[in-house]
Amino acid sequence: MSNYHIKHLEEYFQVYRKSVRHPEKFWEEIAEEHFLWRKPWDKVLEWDFTKPEVKWFQGAKLNITENCIDKHLFSHGDDTAIIFEPNNPDEEALHISYYELHKRVCKFANVLKSKGIKKGDRVCIYLPMIPELSVAMLACARIGAIHSIVFAGFSSSALATRILDSDCKMVITSDGSYRGAKTIDLKSIVDAALEKCPGVENVLVAKRIDSDIKLKEGRDEWLQPLLDEAEEDCKPEMMDAEDPLFILYTSGSTGKPKGMMHTCGGYMVYTAYTFKNVFNYRTGDVYWCTADIGWITGHSYIIYGPLANCATTVMFEGVPSYPDFGRFWDIVEKHKVNQFYTAPTAIRALAKENIEYIETHDLSSLKVLGSVGEPINEEAWHWYNDNVGKKNCPIVDTWWQTETGGIMISPLPHSTPTIPTYATLPLPGIQPALMDEEGNELEGYQVQGKLCIKFPWPGMARTVWGDHERYKDTYFSAYKNKYFSGDGALRDNVGYYRITGRADDVVIVSGHNLGTAPIEDAINEHQAVAESAIVGYPHEVKGNALYGYVILKEAGASRKHENVRKEINQLITEHIGPIAKLNKIQFVSGLPKTRSGKIMRRILRKIASNDTDSLGDTSTLLNPEVVEEIIENSLNK
Ligand code: PRX
Repeated sequence: MSNYHIKHLEEYFQVYRKSVRHPEKFWEEIAEEHFLWRKPWDKVLEWDFTKPEVKWFQGAKLNITENCIDKHLFSHGDDTAIIFEPNNPDEEALHISYYELHKRVCKFANVLKSKGIKKGDRVCIYLPMIPELSVAMLACARIGAIHSIVFAGFSSSALATRILDSDCKMVITSDGSYRGAKTIDLKSIVDAALEKCPGVENVLVAKRIDSDIKLKEGRDEWLQPLLDEAEEDCKPEMMDAEDPLFILYTSGSTGKPKGMMHTCGGYMVYTAYTFKNVFNYRTGDVYWCTADIGWITGHSYIIYGPLANCATTVMFEGVPSYPDFGRFWDIVEKHKVNQFYTAPTAIRALAKENIEYIETHDLSSLKVLGSVGEPINEEAWHWYNDNVGKKNCPIVDTWWQTETGGIMISPLPHSTPTIPTYATLPLPGIQPALMDEEGNELEGYQVQGKLCIKFPWPGMARTVWGDHERYKDTYFSAYKNKYFSGDGALRDNVGYYRITGRADDVVIVSGHNLGTAPIEDAINEHQAVAESAIVGYPHEVKGNALYGYVILKEAGASRKHENVRKEINQLITEHIGPIAKLNKIQFVSGLPKTRSGKIMRRILRKIASNDTDSLGDTSTLLNPEVVEEIIENSLNK
């Protein structure tokens, strides 16, 4: 029985049972069979969720880039590793072979070394979806530097917060980026951020756009001349399996973003294993994930998972609407994509457009379709299945998180019968638990509760960078001896899981995790604002959109509301980025609060969702009268 390419449901159950009964043996077999270790482990697993501490493959030595690149050179060096599809369809796509990738990564790694970057140093990467991004992250991994990639849509202040939090010595960026018809001046965002980050010694700038930017002397340098000069070979740094590989920030419901830290060995094994099984990837297939590498989906399933499997992975610089809404299908046809992985928000946006955008393209290469980032609603699922997959491609609705490193619950193509809106069954090695309000595990079927995982898996994050207490509080304190995901879920009568959404104040907008507290902090900086509360409400395309309730100070009340609305969104754009802008802003005289002063977001969420029939008892509130007023003036009636 192979742990890979599970062919039918019975085989899945066999593999799953084995993985639960003998987890260490299960993962050890996978790790032994498919990877290049320079020294074997002394112990497969050591764990204690109360500390919490998790160590996989302790004592082993490896370098993930040897597994993602060098290992393939002998027999697959000429195969394409990365297909870069530029924003502008008239610009030629670039096919980077494994040989070429090796050369580029080594050269880049040597440049990093020449700038004094060493094992354990943090390097911030703030780049658009251009080949330099993939090469930069792998170059860091090659020399054991810890990459911290910040999505290039984040504002300068969000970038600064992340650079400071992990004390990055270097920033790698570009002069600018293309997104559809827009050109974005990335370098000036970096310059603004760096005013607050004195610890950054070097900035390497890739050239992407036709611009005339200024480099700061002594700090900034163009990347290309350095690469041209660099040696073509770079010995990989030997890493302990538990050494950090990267930090990636994710929003929490409160406080600053959390730098989730992933380690080399377990993350590699987990992303590679899940990639191969979930997408049923076969040698020669062309796989495309439309995410940005700035998010975990891009880390795990554009770069590390696919490359560890010697796959051909597509990297797309642009947006689905440029030059028209047929762009995705154009790319699928052009590169004969076999596995296509995207987010429900993209599916919903494309489903609104003329069906001709699809019908004029040959999508017959497609074999598996994936969905990630938020629950996929039934309508979007059917549209995807009927029009993109032509009812011929299994849809894998993959549930996972930045924290989990890789896919946790998902159908396996041709094994798991799919049902729209269900992520279905846990992958081998994953032991979910649903918990009730009292903290008891719900056994059996047809139950609904908070989704936890009760046994470690190799891909899980090991800590929050610089704040292990926060890691413990957020994920391991709600339920004893369990990892709490922050999501709610139900298990149906056959054991399928359906994710019901976040159980905290994180809102998923267009598949992006947004904590409400940092947005409120940004709004409250407006001089006319006294207090605010943000909630999510269902939105046709974005899945959820943000609704802000804002109390103005006395002095602000006379100002034009439209102006204040614009200024509020401007502030949010500056502090976080345009992705966090509010769709609706309602000015209110008060916010419903409990007697202890806590804002009752549950009530605000219901009003924003126009679901005011089930508000529950509001009489115990400190200010019940305000609820009537808010309903009366609601913008979502
Ligand atoms: O609420 C879940 C939702 O996205 C959250 C994780 O967000 P992030 O860390 O940004 O990672 C996104 C990409 C893995 C989860 O807590 N989520 C993710 N995938 C699904 C989902 N909700 C429902 N169904 C999914 N397939």
